[in-house]
Amino acid sequence: MKAARFVMRSAGSLSAASVVPREVELFSRYSPSPLSMKQLLDFGTENACERTSFAFLRQELPVRLANILKEIDILPDRLVNTSSVQLVKSWYIQSLMDLVEFHEKSPEDQKALSDFTDTLIKVRNRHYNVVPTMAQGIIEYKDGCTVDPVTNQNLQYFLDRFYMNRISTRMLMNQHIYSVTQRQATQLTLEALIQAVMWQPWSKCSKMLCDQYYLTSPELKLTQVNGKFPGQPIHIVYVPSHLHHMLFELFKNAMRATVEHQENWPSLTPIEVIVVLGKEDLTIKISDRGGGVPLRIIDRLFSYTYSTAPTPVMDNSRNAPLAGFGYGLPISRLYAKYFQGDLNLYSMSGYGTDAVIYLKALSSESVEKLPVFNKSAFKHYQMSIEADDWCIPSKEPKNLAKGKVAL
Ligand SMILES: Nc1ncnc2c1ncn2[C@@H]1O[C@H](COP(=O)(O)OP(=O)(O)OP(=O)(O)O)[C@@H](O)[C@H]1O
Ligand SMILES: [Mg+2]
Repeated sequence: MKAARFVMRSAGSLSAASVVPREVELFSRYSPSPLSMKQLLDFGTENACERTSFAFLRQELPVRLANILKEIDILPDRLVNTSSVQLVKSWYIQSLMDLVEFHEKSPEDQKALSDFTDTLIKVRNRHYNVVPTMAQGIIEYKDGCTVDPVTNQNLQYFLDRFYMNRISTRMLMNQHIYSVTQRQATQLTLEALIQAVMWQPWSKCSKMLCDQYYLTSPELKLTQVNGKFPGQPIHIVYVPSHLHHMLFELFKNAMRATVEHQENWPSLTPIEVIVVLGKEDLTIKISDRGGGVPLRIIDRLFSYTYSTAPTPVMDNSRNAPLAGFGYGLPISRLYAKYFQGDLNLYSMSGYGTDAVIYLKALSSESVEKLPVFNKSAFKHYQMSIEADDWCIPSKEPKNLAKGKVAL
C-alpha cells in the first residue's frame, strides 16, 4: 500500500492567515546546535556571562523555532488548519519575530540585556499551553476522519520531535532567566529528590494525589547502590524539574496500578525503587506489583493517545488528575532521551511492572538530543507501508487434509 499522506504543502495552498514570514525560511536553513549540560551550566557563571548567552540565544532560539515550524507545515492540511494548530503556529512565529529583533542590539547594551530577559519570560508564558493545545489539535483531527496507520506513525514521530524541541527551547530560556537570578541544574542528592516527589506537600506530590483520588496509597521502599563510589550517597548533576517530572509520572502510574490491582488485598505492597550509580549510567528502577501489562500493548503505552484511565475533565481548578491524558509516559521518555538517556517499561502480565530510567552519570556526556528538519526528516514523513516481510498468521488453522501433501 502506498500511502504518502504527508506531502509538502505548496505555497499556493496556504491561506493568507498562515503566510510564513521570510525569517522562518531563513532560520530554518541552520541546524540547531546541541549544548552539553556543562555548557548549559556555564551560562551565568564567570566562564560564560549573560552577554555570551544573549548572543547565542538570539540566534539559536529562532533556529530551533524555525526548524519545527517547517515540520508543522508538512503535516496533513486538515491537521494544520485546525484552530489549535493555527494558534500554536502563531505563537511560534510571534516568538521567533520577537527574538529576531535583538539581532540589531549590542550585547554591551545593558537595556537590551534586560529587555531580552523580559522577552524570554514573555515567550515562555506565551508557550505555556503548547502541549494541551497541540493535543487538542490532534484530537480534533482524529475525530474528523479515520487515520491510517502510516499517518498515525507519522504523528507519533512528529509529536516526539515537536515536544522534544519544546523541552529544549524551554531549557535554554529557563537557563538564561535563572542565570540572572539562580542556577537551575544543580548537584542533586537522588534520595532527597525521590522523597520530595513522593511526600512533599505540594499539589504535584504523587502520594497525596493518590490519597486524594483513592483514599489510600502504597508506601515507598528505596534502595541505593553506589557502584562507582561504594558507601557514598549518590549525587548527580541534572535538571531537577526534568527528573521530578519523570519520577512523578512513573510514581503516579505505579500507584494507580497498585491500588486498582490490589483492591481486595489486606494491604498494599510498597513501590520499590532502586537507584544505581555505575561508571556510565545512573539507573532508576521503579517496580510495582500492579498486575502488569501484556507484551502486545507495551509499545502502545508510549503512544500519545493511549490511556486506560477515564478522560479527566479539564477545569481550571488546581487539582491535577492522577491519570488520563496518556501523555505521562511518552513525555517522560523524551525528558530521559533529551540528555542521551532513555526510559523503558518491562512488565510481567499478571504480576507487575518495572519502569526504568537511564541517565548519563557524567554531565560531560549529557548532551542535548535535538531534532533537525532536513531531507531525512522530510523523507521520513513520506515513507509508505510496504508489504510485511513476516507471515501474518491466519485466524483458522490450515486444513492440510484438503491440499496435496507430499509425503
Ligand atoms: N506501572 C504500570 N502498571 C500497569 N499499567 C501501566 C503502568 N504504567 C502505565 N500503565 C498503562 O499505560 C497507560 C499509559 O500511561 P501514561 O502515563 O502514558 O498515561 P496515563 O497514566 O493514562 O495518563 P497521564 O497522561 O495522566 O499520565 C496507562 O493508562 C496504563 O494503562
Ligand atoms: Mg500516567
